[in-house]
Amino acid sequence: MVKICCIGAGYVGGPTMAVIALKCPSIEVVVVDISATRIAAWNSDQLPIYEPGLEDVVKQCRGRNLFFSTDVEKHVCEADIIFVSVNTPTKTRGLGAGKAADLTYWESAARMIADVSKSDKIVVEKSTVPVKTAEAIEKILTHNSKGISYQILSNPEFLAEGTAIQDLFNPDRVLIGGRETPEGRKAVQALKEVYANWVPEDRIITTNLWSAELSKLAANAILAQRISSVNAISALCEATGANVSEVAYAVGKDSRIGPKFLNASVGFGGSCFQKDILNLVYICECNGLPEVATYWKQVIKINDYQKSRFVNRVVSSMFNTVSGKKIAVLGFAFKKDTGDTRETPAIDVCKGLLGDKAKISIYDPQVSADQIRRDLAMNKFDWDHPIHLQPTSPTAVKEVTVTWDAYEATKGAHGVCILTEWDEFKRLDYAKIYENMQKPAFIFDGRNVVDPEKLREIGFIVYSIGKPLDQWLKDMPAVV
Ligand code: UDX
Ligand code: UDX
Ligand code: ADP
Repeated sequence: MVKICCIGAGYVGGPTMAVIALKCPSIEVVVVDISATRIAAWNSDQLPIYEPGLEDVVKQCRGRNLFFSTDVEKHVCEADIIFVSVNTPTKTRGLGAGKAADLTYWESAARMIADVSKSDKIVVEKSTVPVKTAEAIEKILTHNSKGISYQILSNPEFLAEGTAIQDLFNPDRVLIGGRETPEGRKAVQALKEVYANWVPEDRIITTNLWSAELSKLAANAILAQRISSVNAISALCEATGANVSEVAYAVGKDSRIGPKFLNASVGFGGSCFQKDILNLVYICECNGLPEVATYWKQVIKINDYQKSRFVNRVVSSMFNTVSGKKIAVLGFAFKKDTGDTRETPAIDVCKGLLGDKAKISIYDPQVSADQIRRDLAMNKFDWDHPIHLQPTSPTAVKEVTVTWDAYEATKGAHGVCILTEWDEFKRLDYAKIYENMQKPAFIFDGRNVVDPEKLREIGFIVYSIGKPLDQWLKDMPAVV
């Protein structure tokens, strides 16, 4: 029986291993983590992450061929294939601060593997890492090898949160990079056989190590670039009277462009896009390619611009001040169907509104009040000017309330900001919400989930990203 161990029971490691266990009943899969609370949650009825379909998969395999454990060393020692899926945040200090990936967790995982291994291992890079990380890991392992042979593979994960299980069941492609030596090819084949249990052979792509590593960074950069492109066009739509949905539809009909990832929004968030682009920027700079670095930086700059443009629009349309006004925020997660708030645009928007002394009332169906408070209290790291850290005033965070009900959040509010595209926000009783708000009542739709015309009929003043503006908004021009 092949034994797989995955180091890191997070958003990537947990769901990926659960699906491997489900699809490969003859493989034993153990997910290990240094966080005892995380492992306890994976072993309980309340999984540590919310992901549609995940609970079902875990329930089918847990205790059968899927296990969660804190005994990292034991399971690493016993495994044939070790996936490493630990966090790789952006460095906040030292060399490369603000851009480079912090590989502390990766390095300590590699050293631990070298310490405890007694048999040959295939070590698989699962977390997104800078290009050539595999080579560094290989060095750590072979310099501490005690005669054991290690093969390093890069097998980046392309799942998106909220659709993780669907993406894992039916991936567009599985990418496996390895050394072009006989041993390397053998290791690639071994991993290929795992995926071949459910993924059609023609969707399993094999490349050299660096192509695999770079493909992950490039895919995320190009996806994010599409969003920044359409968001940049959204600003122009507002200025000209074009409608960004119509433009995106027309553009996406070109089969060379395609319709996906062209939804204008208040900005992209999530743990990957910004981090991976910054990583790419740093790698370009280190390789003497400043023009390429500047090109990709612009994708993040437009994203930052989109968020501050939204805040400016809110403030300017409410007579240039939101001081003391209640603003309801619907949605805090970085996208629908997840409770994840990493890099969510809601953090920057709320901080911007708090900076103008608004009183904010937040409702998100999956994010806890504690999480929201932690996010808002955290210092924002300025990637472009890493020397300046913006302090967040604790008194500002006191102006935030978190509720478990959209009607409660919007009661008595002057304005409503929709920051996540949860389906339930499409079905709210907006007439009831209008009744209970201060007048004039504003809605700022950062995700284009509501029908502006219908809301205008109720009496709202409506701003939708990239859509033709109300007369009111035209009369109150924002500095954008
Ligand atoms: C373009 C648009 O495709 C077309 O829809 C529009 O109506 C007019 O402009 P055209 O300029 O005739 O058409 O050719 P196109 O095939 O788009 O190529 C433009 C340039 O891009 C060429 O120099 C081509 O060699 C280059 N190209 C195209 C690349 O370098 N790489 C590619 O992947 C595609
Ligand atoms: C992304 C990649 O899609 C995935 O392949 C990779 O493995 C990890 O990073 P994820 O961050 O989970 O996945 O979600 P994604 O669906 O890509 O959305 C990222 C952000 O972009 C979200 O904030 C989303 O709301 C935003 N987005 C997405 C838009 O604003 N417009 C779009 O058209 C699509
Ligand atoms: P991702 O979104 O990439 O899955 P997460 O932050 O959700 O990232 O998960 C990474 C997990 O890796 C965390 O639960 C963390 O505790 C775990 N981790 C980090 N370093 C180690 C290590 N050396 N050994 C075991 N687990 C680790």
